[in-house]
Amino acid sequence: MSAAEFLPSKMTLPILQEAVQGCHGCELYKHATRAVFGEGRPRASIVLIGEQPGDEEDRHGHPFVGPAGRMLDRALVEVGIDRSTVYVTNAVKHFKFEERGKRRIHKKPNGTELKACRPWLEAEMAVIKPSVLVCLGATAAQTVFGPAWRVTKERGRFVEHPWAPHATSTIHPSAILRAPTEEQRHAEYAAFLADLKKVHAMM
Ligand code: URA
Ligand code: SF4
Repeated sequence: MSAAEFLPSKMTLPILQEAVQGCHGCELYKHATRAVFGEGRPRASIVLIGEQPGDEEDRHGHPFVGPAGRMLDRALVEVGIDRSTVYVTNAVKHFKFEERGKRRIHKKPNGTELKACRPWLEAEMAVIKPSVLVCLGATAAQTVFGPAWRVTKERGRFVEHPWAPHATSTIHPSAILRAPTEEQRHAEYAAFLADLKKVHAMM
């Protein structure tokens, strides 16, 4: 199964955003509240790709509006990238989680789900044609660059990609939030800023 058969024939961001709500390309639509599509400028020169919507994104219907999104916003402001000039999206459009009591705990999408959902990402890229593509974390990077890509090794390096002339990867902002000590959080954040500064310099 794949999202391909649910893609509309006319591709604009609003049409795609509506169509994704009817996607049954994998099992993830069954438990999520809604699909969360990418958002931002249709002619954005920078596209940021995360993993999948989280709990808050699933409830509000917008990408990167929870804790990781707030961390991302703060970093973008700090390096001088205006979030209103970028487009943010995710490798997978439905929230995958495990219920633990009242809490919904994020679960990593598997290879089948990533592959099934890729047509939506492909469609977004075909419409936007960004000049810079930034993968946030291993899941996005492996969807874009293939399973052998290691963010730890490749972060901050730019390569040419069919979706954008300048494609790169860095850590996911939630990795900063998860760092066990205050000191490590500072170090992770500083390294994240350094990668985003390179993105800004590309513009
Ligand atoms: N994490 C992601 O990867 N994407 C979101 O939209 C929110 C959290
Ligand atoms: Fe379709 Fe992607 Fe949702 Fe799976 S996660 S149902 S492929 S939109």
